[in-house]
This record gives sequence, C-alpha cells and structure tokens, in this order.
Amino acid sequence: MEVFIIAAISANGMIGQGAEESSLTWTSKEDLKFFIDKTKEAGAMIMGNSTFKTIGKPLPGRLMVVMTRDPKEKMGVEGELIYTSDSPHEILADLKMKGFDKVAIAGGTQIYSLFLDAGLVTDLYLTVEPVLFGGGTPLLREMDRIDLELIETKPVGTQAVLLHYQVK
Ligand SMILES: NC(=O)c1ccc[n+]([C@@H]2O[C@H](COP(=O)([O-])OP(=O)(O)OC[C@H]3O[C@@H](n4cnc5c(N)ncnc54)[C@H](OP(=O)(O)O)[C@@H]3O)[C@@H](O)[C@H]2O)c1
Repeated sequence: MEVFIIAAISANGMIGQGAEESSLTWTSKEDLKFFIDKTKEAGAMIMGNSTFKTIGKPLPGRLMVVMTRDPKEKMGVEGELIYTSDSPHEILADLKMKGFDKVAIAGGTQIYSLFLDAGLVTDLYLTVEPVLFGGGTPLLREMDRIDLELIETKPVGTQAVLLHYQVK
C-alpha cells in the first residue's frame, strides 16, 4: 500500500504560521490543484481533527478519515467523513479492506509524525512555497532521524517546487 505524506511547506520547513489558519492563505493555486489531483487519485485521506477544523467540511470525491480522541461525540457523513480514534495501523488495515491501495496523510504535525514514527509512510510529496515563517507550525514534532531518497523534483507554477521522496 502506498501511504504518502502530502504537505505544503515554507522555505524554512514550516506547514503553517498559526494553528487555526488554513494553508490556503499562503499556498499557490497550482499547489491546490496538485493536492486535489493527488488526493483524488488516492481516494482516501487521513488528517487530524485540528487540520479538519481549518477545512470545515468533507472534500468531494475523497473519503476523509479524521483522527480524534472523541469520535463518539462527532457525526460523520456516510462514505465521505469518518471520525476515528483507531491506531494508524488499524486505520490503514480498514482502508485496505475497503479497497484503497493509496492513502494520503494530509497533516498536521501530530498526524504526519504519528504515521512516520510508526514506520507506515512510503512517500512524501512536499511543495516548497516561497515564504518564510518566523516561529510557526513545524512539519514534524521531535522524532528519530529518517533517511529519504529523492525521486523527483518538479516546478509547481513559477514559484514553488515539488519534492517527491521515498522513505528508505
Ligand atoms: N501546509 C500544509 O500542507 C498543512 C497540512 C495540514 C495541516 N496543516 C496545518 O497544521 C496545523 C494543525 O496541526 P496539528 O499538529 O496542530 O494538528 P493535527 O495533526 O491536524 O490534529 C491534531 C488532533 O488530531 C487528533 N489526534 C492526534 N493524535 C491522535 C491519536 N493518536 N489518536 C486519535 N486522535 C489523535 C486530536 O484530535 P482531538 O483534539 O479531537 O482529540 C488532536 O488534537 C494547522 O495549522 C494546519 O493548517 C498544514
């Protein structure tokens, strides 16, 4: 199963400036198109409840799995939005059973870190946008070193660059 992290990052490796701010305030329309195409191709995406709150609604054409410690208190939408407190392994096993062979890990810091730490991520797609954040939200919390192999670099519009890595 291909399990890929998808993130837009600042030139100094941050995924956001303020916790409740949507990434759409600083990312390019070309990156948004890449995000939509890539997540639709996978068909399923996993994110943390804080990231989901910045989006606010299910995105069409993709199953959204939202991680929360209180899933019973939240209403999902059949076939579109699932709240869960399952472990990363359990979530991926369930998606595999549902027929998905690609899954996007769509953030934020806690959820990227959780899946990387568990050794479940195969690929990373990082779009580097031309902005610097002083402070801000990092891509990852503290964790052990992970070595990557650079597979491809590609311009995204005229101002951003996509880095595709595989986890070694
Ligand atoms: N630039 C980008 O590409 C990008 C992409 C995604 C997000 N972001 C940014 O990242 C920020 C959010 O990141 P974040 O790290 O603060 O939050 P997050 O990872 O989006 O979500 C954290 C929440 O996920 C739930 N959670 C975490 N670990 C869990 C576990 N083991 N089991 C069950 N639920 C678990 C908890 O929800 P409950 O509190 O409901 O229990 C927790 O509060 C936002 O600013 C967002 O804009 C940027």
